[in-house]
Amino acid sequence: MSITPVPRIAIIVVAAGSGTRLGATAPKAFVGIDRHTVLRHALEGVFAAPSAQVIVVAPAGREGDALTEVLAASGDRRDLASVVVGGATRQESVAAGLAAVWPDVEFVLVHDAARALTPPDVFRRVLDALADGVPAVVPTLPVVDTLKQVSGSDVVAAVDRSQLAAAQTPQGFARVVIDSAYAVADREYTDDAALVAAAGRAVAIVPGDTRAFKITTPDDLERARALVAPSSASHAALEHLPPIPRVGIGTDVHAFSATGTLWLAGLEWPGEPALSGHSDGDVVAHAIVDAILSAAGLGDIGTHFGTDRPEYSGAHADAFLARTAALVGEAGWRIGNVAVQFQATRPRFAGRRAEAEAALSAALGGAPVSVSATTTDGLGFPGRGEGVAAFATALVFAA
Ligand code: CTP
Ligand code: MG
Repeated sequence: MSITPVPRIAIIVVAAGSGTRLGATAPKAFVGIDRHTVLRHALEGVFAAPSAQVIVVAPAGREGDALTEVLAASGDRRDLASVVVGGATRQESVAAGLAAVWPDVEFVLVHDAARALTPPDVFRRVLDALADGVPAVVPTLPVVDTLKQVSGSDVVAAVDRSQLAAAQTPQGFARVVIDSAYAVADREYTDDAALVAAAGRAVAIVPGDTRAFKITTPDDLERARALVAPSSASHAALEHLPPIPRVGIGTDVHAFSATGTLWLAGLEWPGEPALSGHSDGDVVAHAIVDAILSAAGLGDIGTHFGTDRPEYSGAHADAFLARTAALVGEAGWRIGNVAVQFQATRPRFAGRRAEAEAALSAALGGAPVSVSATTTDGLGFPGRGEGVAAFATALVFAA
């Protein structure tokens, strides 16, 4: 058994808020974006970041729900994750998370669950800055709107936005820096970087990401839903489906001829009239070839075995089927099974069904082949004994 090394990093995910401005019935972290909650999405990003202790700070009474999300998102990092109960303010919730950080951890990231779609790259940039020796680091985005200082209904001054940046999370700190700043904090700060800066520490910035926006209002939730819709609803769902097998269909008809003996379903039938055709006229084999090629999207019998191919003149089922199996194999498919039925008044087939199925299956490299036969109650060309028709289906799947 391998022992997971104690990580040098802890990520505190604060999810204990009620989400007053969102106004949903559940606490914000447990509101669904798609089929997954805000917290679950946030944790997907957290567990995609480099290996870290993960502490989820949950609303009192929702620890079990938070743990369920952690177990679903953590994969093989389950042992690194835990849930603690938060406090009345975000700052109290962070403090509760800090109290659960393991002794050997050197760097602490604090992340809002409400920034549910934060890409793993943002985590990486913050961690890289910490690894470079920066004691505190905040991901930021430039402010794009023109800003005004206002008083009541009046603009009182323009604000130079080039000096401003919008702060996001995860915010990263050397562990001693955030621990000592929280130990001396005597009021509420708007974020952890402000609290650490108030304790006299320099705070650096790294680029944030527009996807790291905080879900605060119903409009924000709509934006998050729109962002995940194409990838998580269709792509991801399709990616997790097993590859879809493909079916194909093939038919063939040949007339009886005056000379020769019959070849049908891979067998020779002495005493029975032959079917005419470029090869041996085995409609069962030819219908199977068409069905398999059609399932694999490789054209039809004429594409590969046309009358311009003298080597197939007079050839029997085994040659056609072996080549067909090789063609689909080269294209990356395996044959699942083949079912074929032919319509004829003769020969009487039932006594040789097992022999025919074994011969056809062997020619295909072992894929099961079921063969059935039917008369047409005297109707049509099979009923009048003019020829034989065969109908085949085949299933192929990615090899
Ligand atoms: N948070 C927390 N504990 C609190 C308050 C907030 O853990 N007592 C967390 C929230 O869960 C959220 C993050 O801090 O992930 C940012 O807070 P905010 O967006 O303000 O969330 P809420 O406080 O839940 O929302 P609101 O202010 O609208 O009530
Ligand atoms: Mg709040």
